[in-house]
Amino acid sequence: MPSLAIIGAQWGDEGKGKLTDYLDENADLIVRFQGGNNAGHTIIVDGKVFKLHGLPSGVVRPGKLAVIGNGVVVNLEELETEINEVIANGGSIDGLRISDRAHLIMGYHKKLDGAEEKYRGKNNVGTTKKGIGPTYQDKIARIGLRAGDLLEEDLLKEKLSFILPYKKDLMAMMEAEECSCTTESLFDKMMGWKDLIGKNICDTSVLINDALDQGKNIVFEGAQGAMLDIDHGTYPYVTSSATCGGGICTGSGVAPNRIDKVVGIVKAYTTRVGEGPFVSELTGEQGAELQKKGGEFGVTTGRGRRCGWLDLVVCEHASRMCGFTSLGITKIDILNDVPELPVCVAYDIDGEEVKHFPASISKLQRARPVYQTFKGWKGWDDTSAMVKAGYDNLPGEMREYIEFIEKYLKVPADLISLGPDRDETIDRKKDWWN
Ligand code: GDP
Ligand code: IMO
Ligand code: MG
Repeated sequence: MPSLAIIGAQWGDEGKGKLTDYLDENADLIVRFQGGNNAGHTIIVDGKVFKLHGLPSGVVRPGKLAVIGNGVVVNLEELETEINEVIANGGSIDGLRISDRAHLIMGYHKKLDGAEEKYRGKNNVGTTKKGIGPTYQDKIARIGLRAGDLLEEDLLKEKLSFILPYKKDLMAMMEAEECSCTTESLFDKMMGWKDLIGKNICDTSVLINDALDQGKNIVFEGAQGAMLDIDHGTYPYVTSSATCGGGICTGSGVAPNRIDKVVGIVKAYTTRVGEGPFVSELTGEQGAELQKKGGEFGVTTGRGRRCGWLDLVVCEHASRMCGFTSLGITKIDILNDVPELPVCVAYDIDGEEVKHFPASISKLQRARPVYQTFKGWKGWDDTSAMVKAGYDNLPGEMREYIEFIEKYLKVPADLISLGPDRDETIDRKKDWWN
């Protein structure tokens, strides 16, 4: 009954989608456990590009169950568009299952997200404006709407009768964009959602645990990254869900002893979208070059991603919070022909060398990166040749870079990703399901 979890080790966009899809090949179920359609996961199969936001990556491999767990927040209006795109591209949602406990992102959540950001002014988080924060706020405040509510019409009507007036008052107070819907019109719209996915709603914890009992293979697919975790990330510049290891259990209804392996996805350099501290950021020409070479533009919002050198203080924090048993190193091909590769191994904060990622935002703003610099490699532009060559024949400098990461984090780099396509992957482990 093996299960693998995949979690981003930085601030998201590490290439989780690509490597999750690679590992999905032998999985029976693929489970999203947190976040919503703030995610943007790119999967490329034989040149076909899938850009997934709210759907689990399993939808690109027909025949597998793709599960949206209870910890996810779901925008059913936007999911419909995504479903149509996936089907048009050759994917399938026959295997889609949605937890009856998953919370729904409503139109008013998106409007409140925008209004909150306006209130924050220069302290804004730089959210995706997808309504993620306000939906999780309602979950914790116990006034959220859940997928299962669609199946109980009387209960839904009663909930809407007090939630909608409350939200409208709040929106007026916050000068949010107005919401013209009435309880009746919203109910009718939600019945349309029920027609679309009502049959896919179930108790996904039972589904997942039964599958584990039957010895099926499960991939738990993380969204965002460890540094965007509501507890362990760069608060308040984070998302509103538990992106680290513990989130797998609460977000999918499985016990900790059922998670066998956790793969941490480490981009060979660092990126971040939105506001917040970033100690190894390159604000000048080098950063712009990495952004261009790496195509570092958001899949969800199109915003340019801030770029910088690899920061192992960040990755050590992530590994500790998630319990990585393997690493998947991505986009190392983007570093081809960079003559020198500084890697951040500590922070200098007010003259003190710090090895563990601090909670304090002001300390992070004062932190200066302490670098260990590695020699780059040249002339390895042909990715398929690199993949064919296998790990032992990769340029020595590249192996040195990878092996330093392994040594620092005390975790083997079992997957090396050298390009965006499924096949552009060196798998040093292979027996993922034993
Ligand atoms: P995710 O959110 O972690 O799934 O990552 P995104 O899909 O948002 O961003 C990663 C980007 O890098 C996508 O455009 C991928 O197609 C691409 N990508 C993933 N792995 C690699 C790799 O090893 N090399 C290169 N060159 N591109 C990659
Ligand atoms: P994937 O799964 C990168 C960032 C936003 C913002 C902060 C809060 O593709 O790696 P939110 O809308 O979640 O309230 O925004 O989190 N953010 C991401 N950054 N990749 C993501 O997802 C992200 N999802 C949210 O930019 O800084
Ligand atoms: Mg992304």
